[in-house]
Amino acid sequence: MTTLAKAHPNIALIKYWGKQHTAGNIPATPSLSITLDTLTSTTRLNTAAQDSFTLNGSLVDDPKIAACLAILREQYEIPPLVVVSDNNFPTAAGLASSASGFAALITAINHHCSLEMSQAQQSAFAREASGSAARSIFGGYVGLSQPDWVAKPLLDAELWPLRVVIAITDERPKSVSSTVGMQRSQESSPFYPTWVADSEADYLQAETAVAQQDFAALAQLAQASCLKMHAVMQSSQPPLIYWNPATLACLERIREMQDTGLEVFFTIAAGPQVKAVCTAEFEAEVTQALANVAGVRRTLTVGLGTGATIDDT
Ligand code: DP6
Repeated sequence: MTTLAKAHPNIALIKYWGKQHTAGNIPATPSLSITLDTLTSTTRLNTAAQDSFTLNGSLVDDPKIAACLAILREQYEIPPLVVVSDNNFPTAAGLASSASGFAALITAINHHCSLEMSQAQQSAFAREASGSAARSIFGGYVGLSQPDWVAKPLLDAELWPLRVVIAITDERPKSVSSTVGMQRSQESSPFYPTWVADSEADYLQAETAVAQQDFAALAQLAQASCLKMHAVMQSSQPPLIYWNPATLACLERIREMQDTGLEVFFTIAAGPQVKAVCTAEFEAEVTQALANVAGVRRTLTVGLGTGATIDDT
């Protein structure tokens, strides 16, 4: 019997960057994200004689996937599994493929092995595998914060259907992974303590902005969180500079659009792609503007989607 699960990547508007010095991959900062539609990780599971993982058609030996299974097996009876996972979007290029991948994997295992975990429990296991994956268990607007550090849904996608234009400026995998980058920032950025100290207030204000569907407030908070995180990254030793000239050119173009009254704001993860979040009214204009920025290879325009699901068909 094959089990098939799907999950979508999410984009953090309030960023997670840094970990607490405890077990369980607990973030040092709360985060708030939107789960996307259209971009999908599809994971198929079968019981087999031994574990194997195929990602986008290639057999992989990924310690994070092996660790995820080992943690689950500490608590549950799970047979050897053949895992085949495919993303319909570039892997490891700042588009959170690990988030959707682990959310789909945990969801598939939960169903395949009849573990009967709640979504909160699945989110906790997804977080242990990759912090951002905790959020892809849920759709729409999602928070990940203390005290329990499992994700929780904040607002349904349909209630505030913002759009996201992704400007892809480089399709190659990023040079330094988030896990390694965070540790470097924690050990070396002089701004890291301030980043962590301010994060709770930033998160709570963003929660309010989402609850009130206050675009201007969310725009200001999201851009500030993104730039603070990149200031921490760039002030790490050796520096983590994920941007390229096209990344900066996109920010400039978005600022020009904001100056003419368009409802749009930017965010950037640990990679060079720029995500422009806008209201549906301005989607076409923002897409065209970013497609015309020098160095932008292509754009993807997506909406907000659902949490991880089992595909029974
Ligand atoms: C910049 O979730 O990939 O995208 O927990 O070490 O796997 P690990 O890190 P990961 O980091 C995401 C970093 C970010 C911000 C965010 O998604 O909140």
